[in-house]
Amino acid sequence: MNCKEARLRIALQKSGKLSEGSISLLNKCNFNLRVAKNHLLVQSKELNTDFLMVRDDDIPGFINSEVCDIGIVGENLFVEYDLTNKKHNLEIVARLKFAYCRLSVAVKSDSGIKSLKALNGKKIATSYPATLERFLKKEKIKAEVIVMHGSVELAARIGVADAVCDLVSSGTTLKENGLVELHTVLESEALLIGNKNLDKNVKNKIADLNFRFQSVIRAIDSKYIMLHIDKKNVSKLKNILPGCESPTTLELHENPDKVAVHVVSKESLLWDIIAQLKKIGATSILVVSIDKIMD
Ligand code: PRP
Ligand code: ZN
Repeated sequence: MNCKEARLRIALQKSGKLSEGSISLLNKCNFNLRVAKNHLLVQSKELNTDFLMVRDDDIPGFINSEVCDIGIVGENLFVEYDLTNKKHNLEIVARLKFAYCRLSVAVKSDSGIKSLKALNGKKIATSYPATLERFLKKEKIKAEVIVMHGSVELAARIGVADAVCDLVSSGTTLKENGLVELHTVLESEALLIGNKNLDKNVKNKIADLNFRFQSVIRAIDSKYIMLHIDKKNVSKLKNILPGCESPTTLELHENPDKVAVHVVSKESLLWDIIAQLKKIGATSILVVSIDKIMD
């Protein structure tokens, strides 16, 4: 048997925000990854997988040239690769709903640049030249793009450029470098990307992996609520919990007027929902985290 076909090769960011989220998602899918700093190849028995720990900038190229089958990258890198390479074999397998960030143009807080128009004739440093050029073209701005492969935030401070175009997540890095955001160029999140031309066996494995990912992603914002309520009030639940047309109910022992109800709620709405449940007489409310939701 060909070893290359037998193992699934996944490229992950070695270190950085994407790396933390990727490993956390994989571990919620029971991959049990423990990545030490100098581990560049990590193997898992789950789905017979090899994880290649690399610079995120290298991930699209590695997948395109079939060094890896799939990988997790920021949308920012995928878009840049797509714009730079007219012909490539990459496709988006799934959006992974973490590592939300944005590619933004930022300027020094004392630069006097207050609008996009004011960027005309100025220099903008970035690691995303193609994405920035597309944006400037759309906005009809003529600026010089300076390509940097790291420490872009320093560019304005040391006089290399008048503005920068870089990733912003919490905004801490911008702040630390005396920069303020002027305009968003691209919204981004983590993507599972793969090579389009993989054989059927590998594609089946990837579908299996993505099923596991989606089960975890669906559960992330969900809570399982158990409560006791008067039977006559069960029908009111659907107004409180949209989509809860026929909740699971269990009769309470020696209390024919009450039932135990089990429902799923979005965590972001939890406190509001609990308050409404109490209003219709819910008692013995228990809220439990959900690991995975399978369809
Ligand atoms: C990103 C990005 C910025 C920083 C912004 O780096 O390049 O430097 O995060 O985040 P903040 O707004 O929360 O400060 P990342 O750690 O993803 O690694 P990278 O070097 O691969 O870009
Ligand atoms: Zn990077």
